[in-house]
Amino acid sequence: MTAPSTNWKENIAPGEEALFEKLAQDLGGLQAGLAKKRGIHRGLHAKANVIARATFEVKENLDEHLRVGPFASAKKYDAVVRFSNGGPIVQADKKPDVRGMAVKLIGVGGKKLIPGMQDCVTQDFSAILTQSVPFPTPEAFVWFVLAARNPLTLLPKAFMKFGVGKTLALVKTLQAGLGAPVMQLQTNRYFTPLPIRLGAHAAKYCFTPVGPQNVRSDGADLGGEFARHLAGQDVKFDFQVQLFTDETNTPIEDHTREWTGPWTTLGTLTLQKQDVNSAEGKKLSEWAEKLSFDPWHACEELRPLGAMMRARSPAYRVSTMARQASPEPTAIP
Ligand code: HEM
Repeated sequence: MTAPSTNWKENIAPGEEALFEKLAQDLGGLQAGLAKKRGIHRGLHAKANVIARATFEVKENLDEHLRVGPFASAKKYDAVVRFSNGGPIVQADKKPDVRGMAVKLIGVGGKKLIPGMQDCVTQDFSAILTQSVPFPTPEAFVWFVLAARNPLTLLPKAFMKFGVGKTLALVKTLQAGLGAPVMQLQTNRYFTPLPIRLGAHAAKYCFTPVGPQNVRSDGADLGGEFARHLAGQDVKFDFQVQLFTDETNTPIEDHTREWTGPWTTLGTLTLQKQDVNSAEGKKLSEWAEKLSFDPWHACEELRPLGAMMRARSPAYRVSTMARQASPEPTAIP
């Protein structure tokens, strides 16, 4: 296979850092407000459905241009995985919500991105069920998260903010995502709708279940259902990437559109058969709840790309500081 284009480009708006810091503080305000009655949680993705130990095995003989960062050689990493609901409060799984998957590889060498944390040995990935995000800007995303706290006034406020046509289009996309039938968590395919670097290239990634996909759930207890499944067998996901080809088919900054192009498997994530409700499993969950999974916990070769990714940087910092998250681990206990 010939190496695809390296001709990708980010657009960095003047003054965007100050705006992203403000958005992070706005989200932090929501987190602090909710904490008064409910205790402190993550600013988003407050509810963990399942936390499990895992390994990530990089495939042998990857094409030269894919052998970067953690994928440089066929290697096996320890990992921890947190499946979550996306909302800022812990609520019943039956309520329409985003579903998230956060993965932390441990033992990854090379220089990391966050100043002061360059020598950390972790590489994080975070993914949801959709390949695009309907909000055109980070500002619109945060505006929506804050406005959604009051469903009664959400629509009229959105009409005023975005206009009727754009709001109705947004509602349609959101309904398609949030209103979709609920599947067993271990059978979903999880995507990053926002790109990252992959060495000289740019890419989006996904975790694809090895085994049945999209198995319906009654949605009553997604974590319990996953835990029962994992008590009996390994659960595996292939880690796949889709590479940037050109701005039309694989836009860097416009995450409202899905990328097109083939997926290539770089490795496999295996959640070994385990009892997450055993004393050992509960200890792991408590430990991992205190961790932070952040797209900027990453090797330089896998730097997050685009405005929405850059806006996430201060947002995760504000949230993790407020809840006094643990420093990056060097091993799984
Ligand atoms: C659109 C792509 C995005 C994806 C795939 C994504 C995914 C996730 C996931 C999976 C988590 C849970 C992490 C965990 O289990 O600890 C999370 C947490 C969080 N997300 Fe995002 N997210 C996205 C965009 C954003 C944006 C645009 C913001 C804000 C500007 C944001 C703010 C947060 C915050 C504050 C947390 C909690 C961080 C913590 O305290 O650990 N996310 N996100």
